[in-house]
Amino acid sequence: MRTPFVCGNWKMHKTTGEARALAREIVNSLRGGAGGVDVVVCPPFTALAAVGEVLGGSGVRMGAQNAHSAPSGAYTGEVSAPMLVDLGCDFVILGHSERRQLFGETDSGVREKLESARGAGLVPIVCVGETLEERESGRTAEVVLGQVRGALEGLPAPEVGRLILAYEPVWAIGTGKTATPEEAQEVHARIRAEVETLFGEEPAGSVRILYGGSMKPDNAADLLSRQDIDGGLIGGAALRASDFTTIVGAACTE
Ligand code: PGA
Repeated sequence: MRTPFVCGNWKMHKTTGEARALAREIVNSLRGGAGGVDVVVCPPFTALAAVGEVLGGSGVRMGAQNAHSAPSGAYTGEVSAPMLVDLGCDFVILGHSERRQLFGETDSGVREKLESARGAGLVPIVCVGETLEERESGRTAEVVLGQVRGALEGLPAPEVGRLILAYEPVWAIGTGKTATPEEAQEVHARIRAEVETLFGEEPAGSVRILYGGSMKPDNAADLLSRQDIDGGLIGGAALRASDFTTIVGAACTE
């Protein structure tokens, strides 16, 4: 049985004061417990310290949205995995499609970042997903499974079982267009089968695969009810505490 995982990706939103207020609202609304769901928020780098203070001891955990592959060095403007651990992060999103499309990140770059995140003790949340053009030309599986292999090939199998993967069709991110639960489930099942081929049954059974792309309170329950959809990576709806915690509620299994 995989523990459901709901993660808010705040992207480049919220000043420290706003981030603190949003975190406080989430913590207050989940005070009665998160119903067996792992709940994580990923504020921008600038708000990690402030949000970390608010979350302290609440059970809601924190991640970052990116990390450099080196632990330190002459990389102006970058932030390393050990720095994120120092601020209280347990997770880091890697290879988000916005990073791939807008900042030129590649599969091999994602893999390097994954190694450094693991080395620092962060759990990577590795994002994969196809563009509309790739879907329409029938290349969804080829693209998505290629990204999975690019990020994971050669890792020790037990580590793969502890990772988080996120299937985020690029055409569904921030567009209000969601993959249907059937479309999403189909890709999730393909990803799990690929993990099984590469690493065996056990990691395939335990790796959690999130769906991301316009997940909202009104479509979350249906998506999350599918066999291979273990949670959500939430963008827009994570910026309102009530929407985010409603999605956490939809993931509850208790
Ligand atoms: P969205 O973003 O929920 O706003 O579509 C999801 C994501 O990019 O992680």
